Amino acid sequence: MKVRRASLQDVHVIVKIHEERFPAFFLSTLGKDFLAVFYTGFLKNPGVLLVLEDSNEIKGFAAGSRDNRGFFRILIKNSFFQFTWAGIKILFSKPLALKRMAFNVSKSEKNNLIYAELLSIATLANKKGYGKILLAEFEKEIAKENIENLPLSLTTDFDENEKAIGFYKESGYEVYQIFESYQNRKMYRFIKNIVKK
Ligand SMILES: CC(C)(COP(=O)(O)OP(=O)(O)OC[C@H]1O[C@@H](n2cnc3c(N)ncnc32)[C@H](O)[C@@H]1OP(=O)(O)O)[C@@H](O)C(=O)NCCC(=O)NCCS
Repeated sequence: MKVRRASLQDVHVIVKIHEERFPAFFLSTLGKDFLAVFYTGFLKNPGVLLVLEDSNEIKGFAAGSRDNRGFFRILIKNSFFQFTWAGIKILFSKPLALKRMAFNVSKSEKNNLIYAELLSIATLANKKGYGKILLAEFEKEIAKENIENLPLSLTTDFDENEKAIGFYKESGYEVYQIFESYQNRKMYRFIKNIVKK
């Protein structure tokens, strides 16, 4: 079993795992092509995209950023033409989705706290601790180039989400705030100090 940085060739497997493990999530409703563009953006700094391989197959991934300041704008800039094309398609098929994306981007930019962020993590069902291993490697990867000693943060659903909430608490994350996201969706923001001692 190993965790490594993802490459462009891995993105289609990451999209497959995302679709399987986040079937009802907003990003999944935007389709495979959008998800591929989205995850490709994490291949460039300050994005971080890791995959966990077991028996030479990808079984999970973790995506995030080294710094939340303006990250979504940088992500779009990283794959500007692909995002523009995906955005045009969504404009015709799901115009309200663009409104929701703009809401999420502007909300994340109004946040005063500065942190590195885990934006997406998923593993295929397992009894081998893939999730904990991936999360620990993601923390190490962030800590490697953490000049400003930023904490690591993430958001997750407040309701009907016991497994993920327990997973983060067991991994040393503490509740920073409870807030409402798009359409009153109640969320936790978790935080962990990952400064090397
Ligand atoms: C949240 C998530 C990433 C956690 O990853 P995970 O691999 O399931 O979590 P763990 O590392 O704790 O390990 C999984 C299981 O293996 C067990 N395990 C861990 N190490 C083990 C070992 N050496 N031997 C046997 N079992 C082991 C754990 O106890 C856990 O059991 P449980 O599912 O009965 O609690 C994963 O459940 C997932 O992808 N969920 C869907 C997407 C999602 O919600 N992502 C988070 C959004 S914020």
